[in-house]
Amino acid sequence: MKYRYVVIILACFNLLFGYAQRVESLLENNWKFVKGEVSGAQSVTFDDTDWESVTVPHDWAIYGPFDRNNDLQNVTIVQNLEKKASLKTGRTGGLPYIGIGWYRTSFNVPDGKRATLVFDGAMSEARIYVNGAEVCFWPYGYNSFFCDVTEFLHTDGKKNTLAVRLENKPQSSRWYPGAGLYRNVHLLITEEIHVPVWGTQITTPHVNDDFASVCLHTKVEGAEQKELTVVTDIISPDSVVVTSKMTKGYHNERSLVQNFIVENPYLWSPESPKLYVAVSKIYCEGKHVDTYCTRFGIRSIEYIAEKGFYLNGQHRKFQGVCNHHDLGPLGAAVNKSALRYQLSLLKDMGCDAIRTSHNMPAPELVELCDEMGFMMMIEPFDEWDIAKCENGYHRYFNEWAEKDMVNMLRHYRNNPSVVMWSIGNEVPTQCSPEGYKVAKFLQDICHREDPTRPVTCGMDQVDCVLKNGFAAMLDIPGINYRTSRYKEAYEKLPQGLILGSETASTVSSRGVYKLPAVENFSKLYSDHQCSSYDLEACTWSNIPDVDFALADDYPWTIGQFVWTGFDYLGEPSPYDKDSWPNHSSMFGIIDLASIPKDRYYLYRSVWNKEEHTLHVLPHWNWKGYEGKNVPVFVYTSYPSAELFINGKSFGRKEKSQSSLKERYRLTWYNAIYEPGEVKVVAYDEEGNIVDEKTVRTSGQSHHIELVPSRTVLSADGKDLVYITLRIVDEQGNLCPLDNSLVTFDVKGAGKFRASANGDPTCLDAFHLPKMHVFNGMLTLIIQSGYKSGVIEVVARSKGLKSGKLDLLVK
Ligand code: GAL
Repeated sequence: MKYRYVVIILACFNLLFGYAQRVESLLENNWKFVKGEVSGAQSVTFDDTDWESVTVPHDWAIYGPFDRNNDLQNVTIVQNLEKKASLKTGRTGGLPYIGIGWYRTSFNVPDGKRATLVFDGAMSEARIYVNGAEVCFWPYGYNSFFCDVTEFLHTDGKKNTLAVRLENKPQSSRWYPGAGLYRNVHLLITEEIHVPVWGTQITTPHVNDDFASVCLHTKVEGAEQKELTVVTDIISPDSVVVTSKMTKGYHNERSLVQNFIVENPYLWSPESPKLYVAVSKIYCEGKHVDTYCTRFGIRSIEYIAEKGFYLNGQHRKFQGVCNHHDLGPLGAAVNKSALRYQLSLLKDMGCDAIRTSHNMPAPELVELCDEMGFMMMIEPFDEWDIAKCENGYHRYFNEWAEKDMVNMLRHYRNNPSVVMWSIGNEVPTQCSPEGYKVAKFLQDICHREDPTRPVTCGMDQVDCVLKNGFAAMLDIPGINYRTSRYKEAYEKLPQGLILGSETASTVSSRGVYKLPAVENFSKLYSDHQCSSYDLEACTWSNIPDVDFALADDYPWTIGQFVWTGFDYLGEPSPYDKDSWPNHSSMFGIIDLASIPKDRYYLYRSVWNKEEHTLHVLPHWNWKGYEGKNVPVFVYTSYPSAELFINGKSFGRKEKSQSSLKERYRLTWYNAIYEPGEVKVVAYDEEGNIVDEKTVRTSGQSHHIELVPSRTVLSADGKDLVYITLRIVDEQGNLCPLDNSLVTFDVKGAGKFRASANGDPTCLDAFHLPKMHVFNGMLTLIIQSGYKSGVIEVVARSKGLKSGKLDLLVK
C-alpha cells in the first residue's frame, strides 16, 4: 500500500499542532533573566518584574562589553608546546560569561498528563526548579538533558513556575563557551504511557541498491504489565508509505523490535541527503496513547584497513572542518537560520564533514547536517579526568562521563549524518599509564549504545599514544597535526588507517597581506593580524597544502577535519599572550563575520568537484610599492593560468608535483606592482582559455553596496538574512583598505540583529547598529519579525553614498 503521508510528516516536525497524545512546544518567549546570585529566585512567589525580559535561546555574555579583565588566565598551554605559564588575554573572547545567572518563566500542563522538560544545552551547572523544588541538575553546559517534572506540577490548572540557575566558573574553558539558556528548552506533554525522550533506535544492518533492512527498537514507559501494540509506517523521502508493520509486546521487555525491508531505497549521502521517517503509533489495550516519529537515513559506512572509508560502497576521504559552537556575533545562542547559512558556505566550498569540537552540538546542527548532507564526527569532551582548565570538565568526569555519553549517543544515534564518534580531544589522559583504560571505558559505552559506528579520539601526543597502547585500542586512530608522524603511526598501529582528526590551524586575517610572502610560524606583527597569503601557521600547525598532499598520496589516510571552518570567539593564537585587544581566532577558513577569506578558495579549488574555482590574491592597492615585488597567488581548480598586469604577461604557470607549494596553488613571486589591473586567464588540460578574473586598483571610497544572502524571510521571528556590506569606488571596485564606521537603520517587518567585521582586534559591540568595516567589508544580520511586510535597511557612512535594501518577510 502506497499513499501520500504529508500530513503526518508535517506533524512529526511540529509543523502542525502535533498529536493530542504528544504535544511538544518550545519555551522561547516570556522569560525573565538576571545576572548574579539571587536568594529565593526559585520560589513561586518570587517577584521577578524588575528582571530583564528575554527570549530563549539567550546568551547573556555576547552583549559585552569586551574587556581584557573579563577572562584573564595565567596558564601554561601544554598543547601549544608551552613550557611555562604566561598571562593569556582574550582566551575565552574577552566577554563577561563568568558568573551566575537566573532565568524564570511559567508553563501550563493539562491535568492528568506527564510533562518533561528537555534542555538542548544550558551553560552551565544547570539547576532546574519547578514550583520551587529542584527537579534536576546537569553540570555539563554542552549536553542535552531532560527532567520528568510531572510530580512537581500544580494539579488545578494553575501555571507552573520554572526557574533555572546557571553558573560559569572562571578558568572553565579554552574558548568562548557562551552563557545562559543558549539552546532551546522544550516542554513535552505526553500520556502516562509514552515513548520516552530519545526512546527509539533505528539501524540499517544491510544496505544495497536493491533493498535495505531497517531495524527499529521502540521503548515505551508507563505501561506496567499491559500489552502494547506498535504500528509503524516507514515513509520515504517522497512522502510515500513504503512499508508498515504491527507488533505486539510488553513494556517490561527492553524495547519492542520491528524489522522492515525497504526496496529500492534512496541512499543518504552528502550529495543526496534523502531522509525517511518511521511513524510509530502506540496502542495500549486498544487505545491510541502515543505517536512517535524517528527520522533516519539509509546508508552504509565501512572503514577498511589499508583502503579507507566507504559510504554506500563508494570510497571517499573526509573533506571536513572542525567548528566551535558559537555563531560569531550571535554568540552561542543557537539559530537554525544562521547555522543553515554557515553550512551553505561550507557546502559551496566542497566541505562534506563537520567535527563538533570539542563538545556536543546543538540538535539543530545535526538536523541540518542530515538535511543538507554533511557527515559528522560528534565529540563530547576536551578533557577527561585530568585537567586542561582549572575548572574544566575533569571536576565532573568520574561521576558524569557515562551519563553525558549516554545522552549524546541516544540523542544522535538515529541521525544518518553521524558517521563516527570521537571520545575526546587531545585529552591529557592520553599520556597517563591508565589512559587507555579510560579510553576503553568511553569507547565501550559508544559500542554498547550504538554498535554501528566506530570511535576515534583526537590525539596530539604521538610518542605517548604509540607506546602506551592508547592509540592501538581505538577503532580509528585520529591524529591532530603532527603530519610528519602519520606514516610512522600507520606503520606501528594495527588499524591500517589514519584520520586527520584535526589539521592545518593555518592563521590569516581577511584582506591583510604581509610582505615578503613567506612561510611563518607564530609570527607576530605590530597590527596584531596574520597574512592572507596563507603561508602562516602556529608552531604546532601547518599550511593547508601539507594536509592535501597527505590525503592525495596515501590510501590509508581517510581525510581530514581542518581547524577551523569559521573563526570563533576566543583563542586568538598567535596573539594570545597579553596581546589584547585580540579576542577571536584567526584559524577560520571563513572569518567571524561569515565572510570567506582567501583560504576558502584554496580549499574550494581542491574540494569542490562540481564547480570550478578561480581566485586571485592579494588586492591591488599598494601605494608606495610601485615598481616593487608584490606576489600574486591564484587558487584554482584549473591546471594552469597566465598572469597579466596592465596587459603585460608575467608568464603562464602550471600546477606541478615537483614542490608542495606548486601542487595546489599557482604563484607569481615575480609580479611587480603598478596601479591598474591584475588579470588571470585560466586554461584547461587541452590549453583552451576557459575562464578569467580581474582585480583592479580601487579609486576613492564612493558608496556602500549591500549584498544579501537572500531577500525573502519567513515571518517566524527568528529567520535571518546575512548582508555583506562592501565599500566600493565609483566603478564598484572594493576599497580593500577602507575601515570606515558605518551605521545601520532597520525599519519595518524585522530588526537589526547583529553585525561583525571579522577583525580579531575590533572591540565594537556586535548588537549595536554601528560597526567599522574591516578591509572594505562587514556583515550585517537582519532578523524577521512575526508579521509579513517589508524590512527597509539603510547603511550610512560619512562622505559615502548610503546603501539601501528592501527585504520581504512572509
Ligand atoms: C588544538 C586543539 C584545538 C585548538 C587548536 C588551535 O591543539 O585541539 O582546540 O586549540 O589546537 O591550533
